[in-house]
Amino acid sequence: MSEVERPSNRSYTLRGARATPAQVAAYTSLWPSYGLSPSGIIDPREIFPTSEARIMEIGSGMGEATAQIAAHFPNTGFLVIEVHKPGIGALMNLVEKAGLKNIKVIEEDVHVVLRYCIPDQSLDAIHLYFPDPWPKVGHRKRRIIQEEFLAMIHTKIKDGGYIHIATDWIEYARSIQRTFTASQLFSGGVIDRPEWRPISKFEAQGIRKGHIVTDMKYYKK
Ligand SMILES: C[S@@+](CC[C@H](N)C(=O)[O-])C[C@H]1O[C@@H](n2cnc3c(N)ncnc32)[C@H](O)[C@@H]1O
Repeated sequence: MSEVERPSNRSYTLRGARATPAQVAAYTSLWPSYGLSPSGIIDPREIFPTSEARIMEIGSGMGEATAQIAAHFPNTGFLVIEVHKPGIGALMNLVEKAGLKNIKVIEEDVHVVLRYCIPDQSLDAIHLYFPDPWPKVGHRKRRIIQEEFLAMIHTKIKDGGYIHIATDWIEYARSIQRTFTASQLFSGGVIDRPEWRPISKFEAQGIRKGHIVTDMKYYKK
């Protein structure tokens, strides 16, 4: 997809840990089994025809929580969107080892995937766990939860569907709540952490630093 319009403020940076040999090998050998190219329409209902529900996870990181959640919900199809290649390799390795049949991965900015690939009303839910918090005031426009993003996901989620978000950055949690309230497209708010949501390494780091984790769930109105 070379001609696509991309957000001017990226919600991610592509720096970070170099891929380990296992991640590179996993990426090369496992991509044909689990990877999807964002080169046209990707209909979750066609990717997971027999699943009871189809959930998009945005930003799987190193994939530990993603693989555990997919194992916990074998009848749900998970469409994972991530831009970090080493993380995608790590996730596919976990998926292969666990023999999971309900995960597919797209390597692309989720804004591009939502805009160009995902049909309207085709997702039962979206999982967004620990989106980059962009704490500096000058960087806040890079946060993924913005008014336009809510309008986009609103069209992609089925009636009655929802987005579940978790963050360990309390000021971002408050800003997320304000953005949802202002948009009037969803209803919901803070929820208890579901027992099935595992603690990823990223979350564990935040907890060690004393961060408070907030789970939020918003249903499409
Ligand atoms: C802070 S990490 C959290 C990862 C994981 N959910 C966890 O709990 O460990 C955020 C992840 O979101 C990914 N990400 C950020 N913006 C994205 C975008 N626009 N499209 C796809 N992935 C994105 C980053 O590459 C990163 O891996």
